[in-house]
Amino acid sequence: MNIIVTGGAGFIGSNFIFHMLEAHPDYRIICLDKLTYAGNLSTLKSVMDKPNFRFVKLDICDRAGVYKLFEEEKPDIVVNFAAESHVDRSIEDPSVFLQTNIIGTSVLMDACRKYGIKRYHQVSTDEVYGDLPLDRPDLFFTEETPIHTSSPYSSSKAGADLLVMAYHRTFGLPATISRCSNNYGPYHFPEKLIPLMIANCLNDKPLPVYGEGLNVRDWLYVEDHCKAIDLVIHKGRVGEIYNIGGHNEMKNIDIVKLICKELGKPESLITHVKDRLGHDMRYAIDPTKIHNELGWLPETKFADGIKKTIKWYLDNRGWWEEIISGEYQNYYKKMYADRGSSDI
Ligand code: NAD
Ligand code: TYD
Repeated sequence: MNIIVTGGAGFIGSNFIFHMLEAHPDYRIICLDKLTYAGNLSTLKSVMDKPNFRFVKLDICDRAGVYKLFEEEKPDIVVNFAAESHVDRSIEDPSVFLQTNIIGTSVLMDACRKYGIKRYHQVSTDEVYGDLPLDRPDLFFTEETPIHTSSPYSSSKAGADLLVMAYHRTFGLPATISRCSNNYGPYHFPEKLIPLMIANCLNDKPLPVYGEGLNVRDWLYVEDHCKAIDLVIHKGRVGEIYNIGGHNEMKNIDIVKLICKELGKPESLITHVKDRLGHDMRYAIDPTKIHNELGWLPETKFADGIKKTIKWYLDNRGWWEEIISGEYQNYYKKMYADRGSSDI
């Protein structure tokens, strides 16, 4: 099998590449990544020299480049992780989200149609369902929940999902979609909640919690997400959507307190800052379909996963310190100055 993995120099894509090379040593994996601010070649260092791995620096919106790569590699499967992925950045500037997340997806699917493919898999998000109220813990997102987005990010991902379903129905593209809850684990870019709080804690910096910190996210260890996608691309039914989540709902404030406790840092570092615009209250996935159809269950409990993740950030300081010492400083100042926590 030849598999093109787009966005493989990012957080989940890189973990997926590690998983696939381990689980399917006979497969050839081609990573296509533009290396935006969120992509890091150093993340792929351990696999770069493997004979069945190839890295190609390319924008998924570059039609000629994408077609050339398909012609060269004749992929059996394409798994599309490439995206602009941070809600706060999409609030600052939606345009690149529309470009990469929607136009890029259409270019990849056009290449699949032109050159033929066994499977196109779109990595989507539970954020396309909007949010759930805090006072209705009985409600969960199922695959039938209507799309109802809040941010430019989630709207761009929803737009891509609609296009994927349209290509399946209109052109018969053998496509699947997975919609996962929030991931955490190694190589998570330090602009996102968990790695940002770990990095700030380790540097004794303020921990900027948006609003009261009562928003709920449904956290899943990244390896469990990768295993679920592996199952969907091999055994999932074409034209179907699969929700992925581990029933692990946590309030933001409780996560931040837990990180303080694990690192022996005082909760006085917590600073409540101005809330995110349009901030979704609660995400919660019902993973019954993927469990019943494909036998998937999450393997890593949050209590263990968060310890493993913190240990990874302690053991790999070089990876994230290099990131936060560069352009990230400007990003942080710009994003957090207005919110009342610019002291990086
Ligand atoms: P990330 O931001 O860490 O990585 C994105 C990767 O895509 C980077 O390597 C970047 O260089 C690359 N990229 C961006 N634009 C590109 C372009 N135009 N062409 C080629 N490559 C490009 O993101 P992530 O957290 O790993 O998320 C991966 C996918 O999973 C995204 O599609 C996201 O919507 C989805 N998702 C993420 C989560 C989560 O919790 N992080 C949860 C559910 C779904
Ligand atoms: P994030 O990791 O950006 O993921 P998403 O918005 O896609 O769920 O944020 C997770 C939650 O943490 C979200 O409710 C916003 C909140 N948050 C903070 O309170 N402070 C921060 O500095 C960040 C980045 C996020």
